[in-house]
Amino acid sequence: MDLSFVFFLFLLSFFLIPSSTIARGGDRIPIPSGFLDKSSELLARHLFEDKQRKISEALTDGYMSNTELEKSVTEFGQRCANISRIYSIGKSVNGSPLLVIEISDKPGKEEAEPAFKFIGNVHGDEPVGRELLMLLANWLCSNYMKDSLATMIVKNVHLHILPTMNPDGFALRRRGNANNVDLNRDFPDRFYPVNDVEDMRQPETRAIMNWVKNQQFAASASLHGGALVANYPWDGSQDSRKKYVACPDDKAFRYMASIYSQSHYNMSSSTEFAGGITNGAQWYPIYGGMQDWNYIHGGCLELTLEISDDKWPRANELPILFEYNRKSMLNLVASLVKSGIHGRTFSSDTYHPLPASVTINGIDYKTNSSRRFGYYYRFLAPSESYEVMVTMPGYESKTTRILLEDEAMSLDFILDPEVSDAGRQVDDCYCNCDGQGKLVVGILGRAHLDMFLAIFVVLLFLCFLLKRKAVIRFLKRRHFPGHKRAIEV
Ligand SMILES: *[C@@H]1O[C@H](CO)[C@@H](O)[C@H](O)[C@H]1NC(C)=O
Ligand SMILES: *[C@@H]1O[C@H](CO)[C@@H](O)[C@H](O)[C@H]1NC(C)=O
Ligand SMILES: *[C@@H]1O[C@H](CO)[C@@H](O)[C@H](O)[C@H]1NC(C)=O
Ligand SMILES: [Zn+2]
Repeated sequence: MDLSFVFFLFLLSFFLIPSSTIARGGDRIPIPSGFLDKSSELLARHLFEDKQRKISEALTDGYMSNTELEKSVTEFGQRCANISRIYSIGKSVNGSPLLVIEISDKPGKEEAEPAFKFIGNVHGDEPVGRELLMLLANWLCSNYMKDSLATMIVKNVHLHILPTMNPDGFALRRRGNANNVDLNRDFPDRFYPVNDVEDMRQPETRAIMNWVKNQQFAASASLHGGALVANYPWDGSQDSRKKYVACPDDKAFRYMASIYSQSHYNMSSSTEFAGGITNGAQWYPIYGGMQDWNYIHGGCLELTLEISDDKWPRANELPILFEYNRKSMLNLVASLVKSGIHGRTFSSDTYHPLPASVTINGIDYKTNSSRRFGYYYRFLAPSESYEVMVTMPGYESKTTRILLEDEAMSLDFILDPEVSDAGRQVDDCYCNCDGQGKLVVGILGRAHLDMFLAIFVVLLFLCFLLKRKAVIRFLKRRHFPGHKRAIEV
């Protein structure tokens, strides 16, 4: 495929695609087959000349600049010091810090609690999310110990908020980052191997990937603009055709997306999307998106939320937009307390927490419990029965059948160490369950066997000696019957 064809497709997109619907997607041109094609890579990650309307100065009036946002985050950290922590996960291309607010009654401390993350402003020209996330953080701080939902979230969840993932794009008033790369096309993809090239990855994307690797999130959502819908995986289809592509957790995702749309002012009354939710690939397939990557590699169920038809509404509409979305955002975070199953995994012999895996029969997906607490959280749709299996190398698996009703369920698992063929217990090796650990156990086992043999031989010999002595004594007694017998009691 040559560049002129790409250009042709690009032109075509102008005529075929209504520009108002460019939200999560941007380029709705399907990626042609042959993912390794150099020009298709151009289609996916990089953006052509910005095709959206010019954002006027008047429109940006009342929105926080990047400096003002940073100040707002810092001030929040001071005002709400005892239920928050501010940290940075990296820097944008132009050096802006990617600041995160963590809200919890024990910020910065690992606990046996689920974590949720919100990411705003993935696309530079979709600034509503960054404003709403700051309003959300401040609302939580103001209503902690006053409002039951706020208190429940602060006490039971670690909520991490990244108001802007793309400060450079915001400053430039455009979708892509400073290198004009669409960050929601920059993640490693199931079908699109070009995105595996690490050198090409943008610093903003890399920051998110490292963050998710170091901090286990149970669920998350990124905020976009240009439509009004809660979008869930999968985002990509294998043949780049538009169709429903269900991920293993389709039921859980539909339930999660519905929590958002049903709690929203009018998202669920959408005429375009039934119930205000959509499967990503059914809407239009994208590749390299953040949502699918989180689900596959982060153990995190992520939604992509389109929160307003207008990407850049007048700033005086922000408070009302916050009101439209406030309950949705709170209920989504609180769903980690109100739904699903959670608990801890221990070993039966030492009662140490175990970093085990939790799977649900019929759903091809693993949830890991944490190393430190053995804590896991598994989001599941309610009113269903599930078979929950916990596995850990070196331990016997455990399976239990549950009926999950409308409330969250707490399930702890105590695993027994595996018993080997010889009938000996495998030593507790929860700190070191790799090959080396097993080898050490194996050698110890054999050493024990040798020692037993040696002791057996010694005992046999002693037995023989004692018997000999007894026989001699007996014989002596016979020879000297008059000899006084020792008194035995
Ligand atoms: C935080 O400060 C408020 C007000 O001083 C207090 O009520 C609360 O107990 C403090 N700590 C936590 C973790 O809630
Ligand atoms: C929701 O309400 C907003 C503001 O009134 C309106 O602009 C929008 O069209 C409505 N959307 C739906 C799906 O009802
Ligand atoms: C879960 O644990 C398995 C096995 O240790 C590991 O391969 C996988 O990457 C983990 N998943 C996550 C999301 O951490
Ligand atoms: Zn977007």
